Amino acid sequence: MPEFNNKAMYKLSYGLFVCTAVQGDKKNGCIINTAVQVASDPNTISIAVNKANYTHDMIKETKTCNISVISKEAKFDLFKHFGFQSGRDVDKFSPEYPSSSYAMADNGIPYIIEGTNAYFSLNVKQEVDLGSHTLFICEPAFMTVLSDVQSCTYEFYQSDIKPKPQAVGTTPKGETVWRCTICGYEYVGEDLPDDFICPICKHGKDDFEKIIR
Ligand SMILES: Cc1cc2nc3c(=O)[nH]c(=O)nc-3n(C[C@H](O)[C@H](O)[C@H](O)COP(=O)(O)O)c2cc1C
Repeated sequence: MPEFNNKAMYKLSYGLFVCTAVQGDKKNGCIINTAVQVASDPNTISIAVNKANYTHDMIKETKTCNISVISKEAKFDLFKHFGFQSGRDVDKFSPEYPSSSYAMADNGIPYIIEGTNAYFSLNVKQEVDLGSHTLFICEPAFMTVLSDVQSCTYEFYQSDIKPKPQAVGTTPKGETVWRCTICGYEYVGEDLPDDFICPICKHGKDDFEKIIR
């Protein structure tokens, strides 16, 4: 009998997307890996967005968003900018964010033009409460191709874009600090729980290194 192995979850494949929304004067966006075409007639795309994300609340309120499809040319900075910080704390479309990186769609929502190969403007038709996430079931109002570069899968992000974690150090006598090699978040404690998820960038234990102070 094969044994239960939750590593099977890592065998599911995903694309990666910047999901952008606008509410009043506020423009924002986050990285998601959960945009999928789920029906063809009518053409339907679903996205699952964590309720903790600011973008989630903006989509729930405005019932519309854009999805920019990330390509293999994307830099790690794109993931850091949209995936490792919240629009609650920073303005992701402040003047420091280069205006050459994005353009405004007809629906008044930005889409990303650097490191992407297509974008969709989506209108939310239904919502399903999935506990941690809301599944927004959407109809595309517009879509276009921006480049012929291949789409970036989650696997390609893990193997070719995300910086490699460094080796774990030896346990010091005093305070043990585990640092997230992706975003720098530090956890203090001898043992990092197996199911620990970085509160900033949402990466797991494998991306933490033990550092000596
Ligand atoms: C590679 C990657 C994939 C992610 N996938 C998702 C996802 O599918 N759904 C989601 O809600 N958040 C996902 N996130 C996390 C959000 O992008 C992240 O929490 C973001 O900072 C939220 O920003 P906001 O609060 O401004 O909306 C992902 C992050 C990364 C780096």
